[in-house]
Amino acid sequence: MKTTISVIKADIGSIAGHHVVHPDTMAAANKVLAQAKKDGIIIDYYITNVGDDMELIMTHTRGELDEKVHGTAWEAFKEATKVSKELGLYAAGQDLLSDTFSGNLKGMGPGIAEMEIEERPSEPFVVYMADKTEPGAFNFPQYKMFVDPFNTPGLVIDPTMHEGFKLEILDVYEGESVTLNAPEEIYDILALIGTPSRYVIRRIYRKADGNIGTVTSIERLNLIAGKYVGKDDPVLIVRVQHGFPALGETLEAFSFPYLVPGWMRGSHYGPLMPVSQRDARATRFDGPPRLIGLGFNVKNGKLAGPSDLFDDPAFDETRRLASQIADYMRRHGPFMPHRLEPTEMEYTTLPLVLEKLKPRFKKEEGMVKAKQSIYQKESSEMD
Ligand code: 13P
Ligand code: 13P
Ligand code: MG
Ligand code: MG
Repeated sequence: MKTTISVIKADIGSIAGHHVVHPDTMAAANKVLAQAKKDGIIIDYYITNVGDDMELIMTHTRGELDEKVHGTAWEAFKEATKVSKELGLYAAGQDLLSDTFSGNLKGMGPGIAEMEIEERPSEPFVVYMADKTEPGAFNFPQYKMFVDPFNTPGLVIDPTMHEGFKLEILDVYEGESVTLNAPEEIYDILALIGTPSRYVIRRIYRKADGNIGTVTSIERLNLIAGKYVGKDDPVLIVRVQHGFPALGETLEAFSFPYLVPGWMRGSHYGPLMPVSQRDARATRFDGPPRLIGLGFNVKNGKLAGPSDLFDDPAFDETRRLASQIADYMRRHGPFMPHRLEPTEMEYTTLPLVLEKLKPRFKKEEGMVKAKQSIYQKESSEMD
């Protein structure tokens, strides 16, 4: 029997701004998932949230992109949106870009991470979920977990990991992917994934037997919608232990609060702060970007857990440093590099402001016009 773990998430509205999911919307989604469990569509499930993002963690035997499983998630989000609208919550239905469901949720707004696996005798895995950032934010920690021996000693001392891993990297602008080998091609890997807004690690496989280790949601709402509709707050499923990084090796990758794009209005770099479920609420400047990690075991599709992995004083210093970095970044105010680069700002409301200023610009004699504008959209219009 193969088990599929499906994590499907959406922001369908929240309390008092882009802050936190309302419990009544979770209850509405729960009703739908409970029925799907009764009907045998899914085996087990767990519903949670990080900030304003509702996360449906489901297990079943129907494989990836299954119509019934995706239909269940769609219905859960629709029911939750109804409640969200009744309560007048902020941005009700934010991530549901389409009204009609046709087969699966690809390209419809919700984030999707699914993996079909042959369960090991013990099958431990972690679901990492972030708010106020985007899928490429998981490039850095996945590299640390599966490629960097300074993070993961298992790569050096465990013969089942020693051969390394294959990284499937997606170009979210071109819709192409490439699979590269670690450790042989780490410089090529870094040449791509160091631009996380464009190149996103979608899946990692163990080289020795092709077993899947991770999967990330890669949906970029703004690219789908062509305008800013909220950040594409991502999820990452990671299998741990027995030939994959140990649980603690995956957690270690988040001990440094690295900078990610997102935060206020999806337009600012800020530190990713790992927090407990209790603290998974976006507050200061709509953040700072938050991460939760829930640990599970799955046996014949049945979930044991979760364990709230960052609910631990061992991450207090990471959070303190994240707060200090938040202070430092905030002092830049509206200046880059706190504010995102122009290509990323294209999907926000900034171009509207710039458009208004255009007629006031006067030609400067003797100055050469650059071949390529930093705003690619504008440069093609100017050509
Ligand atoms: P979300 O992407 O979490 O909805 O946040 C959007 C935003 O604009 C926060 O300031
Ligand atoms: P409002 O225009 O509703 O204030 O939204 C701003 C924002 O939070 C961007 O997502
Ligand atoms: Mg929101
Ligand atoms: Mg969010």
